[in-house]
Amino acid sequence: MAKFLVQKSEPLYGEVHVSGAKNSVLPLMAAAILNDEKCRIYEVPRLLDVTVMEEILMSLGGKIDFQEDGTLDIDMSGMNSTEVGFDLASKMRASFLVMGPLLAKKGHVKLFMPGGCTIGARPVDLHLKGFEALGAEIDRKSDSFVEAKAGPHGLIGASIYLDFPSVGATENIMMAAVLADGVTYIENAAEEPEIVDLANFLNKMGASIKGAGTDTIKIEGVKELKGTAHTVIPDRIETGTFMLAAAITRGEILIKNIVPDHVRAIAAKLRECGVVVELTDEGLYVNGGMNPLVATDIKTLPYPGFPTDIQSPFMSFLTTVEGSSTVIETVFENRFMHVAELNRMGANIRTKGNRAMIQGGKNLEGARVLATDLRAGAAMVLAGLVASGTTEISEIYHVERGYEDFVEKFRSLGANILRIED
Ligand code: UD1
Repeated sequence: MAKFLVQKSEPLYGEVHVSGAKNSVLPLMAAAILNDEKCRIYEVPRLLDVTVMEEILMSLGGKIDFQEDGTLDIDMSGMNSTEVGFDLASKMRASFLVMGPLLAKKGHVKLFMPGGCTIGARPVDLHLKGFEALGAEIDRKSDSFVEAKAGPHGLIGASIYLDFPSVGATENIMMAAVLADGVTYIENAAEEPEIVDLANFLNKMGASIKGAGTDTIKIEGVKELKGTAHTVIPDRIETGTFMLAAAITRGEILIKNIVPDHVRAIAAKLRECGVVVELTDEGLYVNGGMNPLVATDIKTLPYPGFPTDIQSPFMSFLTTVEGSSTVIETVFENRFMHVAELNRMGANIRTKGNRAMIQGGKNLEGARVLATDLRAGAAMVLAGLVASGTTEISEIYHVERGYEDFVEKFRSLGANILRIED
């Protein structure tokens, strides 16, 4: 099993280029199912999750060409299956995103239940509720797979209210509705930038989607979609991770290829702590060493609120800042598994329900810790950079699922990190 060895490092310094967004590219790839021509996606990051989605599309009969420069061509014209088996579906939760497109395009889908990061129950009821509202018949008899069929005339437009603005459910329902007969409204929709990116991609393919990025999305069904080319948006969670890397090491990083609006909440919270975050012509300049730092509280929320995916990296940072702070997680249950790992490194964090109380300003010490999920893995690396001695991080496949060139990028900024095969 591969591990990261992280040693106490000097403040990180330099420039870093952010890759295309993992959470955007996965739904874009699934959306390619909806047309019979070729789709080209630029700036696709080389990640395990992208490879899994490629394998899923190929298992359905698609052809994929992924070039060195991050250009991905997807040709689904030869699609000859509507089933995704356990081996692939269990590898990541985003495998579920092929359900909407398959149902819309082929009127049938059978999918084994998705896997992915172990952060709470993560049900798919909102996705299924949406498909049912569009007239699909869902077979839920088995716990291990779900099968759905559209009616004889395909899916039919409907009004769907989401009990929670789920990102995946909004994307899946949007993709199902683009070829439906009539108009669909998704209310209390997720407003994340990845939803807007997907809607832009679908509209370029000929779909008619309005309101993406607000809480009400209107989709007028069209008869067919055509191939298109699209550049994926920069990864706002990777951007946030490097912002935290500058903050926790009291370093100075210029982060390039960013959309400032997408990281507004993270920037606001870092500024509250005294970290300098400035937009320049070249990118986002973050300096954690200019001012004395103070603690702050954070509460995760759907976009444009503070992102749950930056909760654990931010918590690593808070352990290094003098004073007490509270972190409230409202998006996922059970997303505090990194707390035990940080405490193993000498942090002082207590949890009660979805609330974590941090007594900051502790000197962290290197320890053997786990990357309990993708973002928690990044949080451990950040903590390791300021902890005395060596931090040995296991289960790093989680990190490699979601960050492109993780070790190389950190090393280029002066981080003392190595990836070793145990
Ligand atoms: C996506 C992101 C993930 C991010 C999350 C929240 C991708 C590939 N992943 O995950 O990185 O952490 O958004 O910003 O884009 N829920 C239900 N029923 C459902 C669906 C969701 O109860 O049918 C709940 C979930 O259990 C969770 C909450 O809604 O508590 C948010 O989940 P959701 O927004 O769907 O996250 P994902 O799309 O899985």
